[in-house]
Amino acid sequence: MITFRRMTHDDADAVADLELKCFAMPWSRADFFREVKNELAEYVIGELDKKIVAYAGAWVSFEQAEVMHVAVEPELRGQGIGTLLFGELIKAVKERGAKSITLEVRPSNIAAIKLYENFGLKSVGRRKNYYRDNDEDALIMWNTKL
Ligand SMILES: CC(C)(COP(=O)(O)OP(=O)(O)OC[C@H]1O[C@@H](n2cnc3c(N)ncnc32)[C@H](O)[C@@H]1OP(=O)(O)O)[C@@H](O)C(=O)NCCC(=O)NCCS
Repeated sequence: MITFRRMTHDDADAVADLELKCFAMPWSRADFFREVKNELAEYVIGELDKKIVAYAGAWVSFEQAEVMHVAVEPELRGQGIGTLLFGELIKAVKERGAKSITLEVRPSNIAAIKLYENFGLKSVGRRKNYYRDNDEDALIMWNTKL
């Protein structure tokens, strides 16, 4: 059974390894290490048999959460882990006082968009050529009623 907890410094290596498998422009171990110290940041980790298989993080400021990461181990996708993970992240940011949540996502990322729509986020606009690796636009999504 998957369990969730907050990220600590000890997780930085494993999270950075998973990040490499999940993103075209990955954050480094040092970036995640910094996030643990970042007072605005909330990160949750999903573990199966003591192995990190998912993580998600957001910055919370002035009642607004901005999602930085949502990722699930590639071989374990499509089984509901992303849904549990994002639910845990929303719980964590609400505990910090967030009343709205926003993020950017690639229009080609159908699975992620579906996941976010299931949590009430709606596409409200685009940032042109936002992603530096392929110049893809970003969809901006919001849920203002957490
Ligand atoms: C996005 C991501 C976290 C989803 O994780 P997951 O464990 O596959 O999510 P779930 O299994 O809970 O599925 C969530 C929803 O997406 C749908 N979905 C999942 N994979 C899909 C796919 N390949 N195509 C279409 N829909 C898909 C599911 O059906 C589900 O919707 P439903 O409950 O209405 O049926 C995962 O794909 C991932 O890590 N992607 C790489 C990193 C990334 O792009 N993160 C988002 C950056 S903005």
